[in-house]
Amino acid sequence: MIKPDGVQRNLIGKIISRLEDKGLKLVAIKFLRLTKEQAAEHYREHAGKEFYERLISLITSAPVVAMVWEGKNAVFIVRKLMGATDPAQADAGSIRGLYGMSMGRNIIHGADSVDSARREISIYFRPEELVSYEKTLETWIYEEK
Ligand code: GTP
Ligand code: MG
Repeated sequence: MIKPDGVQRNLIGKIISRLEDKGLKLVAIKFLRLTKEQAAEHYREHAGKEFYERLISLITSAPVVAMVWEGKNAVFIVRKLMGATDPAQADAGSIRGLYGMSMGRNIIHGADSVDSARREISIYFRPEELVSYEKTLETWIYEEK
């Protein structure tokens, strides 16, 4: 998800390009403003933490881009591309490393496991909104088994 700060900073195109360029495949995308309920479900693991209220307030403050990306080890790959949670610690070439300055404005969210990806996808998308399709480039991205 491109968070409100990423959208406001005009980073939608750059972030999508990075994921596309890596070889990941976009299967669903939605531009929306999260409700309090969606935000609470999304970040339920952080309920009660010191930064929780600020996190919910930011994520519901303006529109976001929710996306589903597919690929081998997609969760791991996306987290590598995102960089560490704190942009000050994130690798210089990562999305947070390149574009972020502080933890509470770290541009992008990515699911941290396949289980959380499934849960998060179901908050924003109906199953039929995920599009299954072939990309002819795939033989140039993955070695055939
Ligand atoms: P997400 O992809 O957004 O879930 O980030 P993450 O998995 O790298 O971090 P985590 O799930 O631990 O925290 C969720 C979000 O809460 C982070 O992306 C930050 O925006 C925010 N956050 C986490 N820890 C802190 C903190 O100590 N202070 C503040 N201000 N924000 C925090
Ligand atoms: Mg997280």
